[in-house]
Amino acid sequence: MSERRGGISKAVIVAGGRGTRFLPATLAIPKEILPIFDRPMLFYALEEAANSGLTEIVLISAPGKAVMENYVTLRGEELARALGEHASAAAVQGLMDSLRVTIVHQNEPLGLGHAILQAADAVGDEAFAVILPDDIVNAETPVLAQMLAAYADHPGIHVGVEHVAGEAISAYGVVDVEPAGGDDKRVYRVTGLVEKPDPDDAPSDLGIVGRYIFPGSIFDAIRRTPPGAKDEIQITDAMEIQRREGTPTFAFAFDGVRYDAGNPLGHLRAAAAFALSRPDVSEEARAILEEALSRE
Ligand code: G1P
Repeated sequence: MSERRGGISKAVIVAGGRGTRFLPATLAIPKEILPIFDRPMLFYALEEAANSGLTEIVLISAPGKAVMENYVTLRGEELARALGEHASAAAVQGLMDSLRVTIVHQNEPLGLGHAILQAADAVGDEAFAVILPDDIVNAETPVLAQMLAAYADHPGIHVGVEHVAGEAISAYGVVDVEPAGGDDKRVYRVTGLVEKPDPDDAPSDLGIVGRYIFPGSIFDAIRRTPPGAKDEIQITDAMEIQRREGTPTFAFAFDGVRYDAGNPLGHLRAAAAFALSRPDVSEEARAILEEALSRE
């Protein structure tokens, strides 16, 4: 694959949350290991990183999430034995063997900015990507691959965005934008960022979804970021600090359908969509869903 990725090889996957929106399942299982149809939520993030040409994963975990950590460290013969003759064996093994995974812990839930800061030593000074695995995007070209190509043309900070209707915007980081002026109309220049605004104060209807590209200097900005919304250290606030200090900042309205799989209804929607889009099971999945509806 000839990707343009502006020299980026690392993806930070943020999976240190406690999964409170998914209780009681998450009393026993990390949310990121819950399957969306037959693959754990985390698998989609690993696959997106690998299919975007990235090779090094920094997984932000937390105490009590050993099950998830074991999942990403399975390799080689152990993995082959576990998969046996399963139809996906070669693909899963190919994926896992293409990635080097470093695990770091976020020991206290102090916010998304704080979670990303835990990757500072593992990432170093270089630019890197971030994936929030709750946000799963079904796209022909992986979202990160789309964003890395835009990054190669416009160095700086990049965030994935989509249009969000009505009051729901207050659950997001929101960007104020102007046209970036290039050929790709999906790329906007960001002129302001705010985390979880009141709907009346939102600067636009463009909400940030869980895909980012950062320069290594973001870690210094996070260290200088005071607690914000929900009294947590917000990555949106750290980006706004860097933007005001002169870092070019872009929003990218990606192609693809995004699912918020981090809550039960969003998860249901994602599972149905992924089952329907899988040629091997789509017909049966459709029949099952129609039957469930007709019984209502
Ligand atoms: C986080 C970010 C927010 C972003 C969202 C995307 O919020 O803080 O800016 O819009 O992820 O899913 P959370 O959903 O963790 O509250």
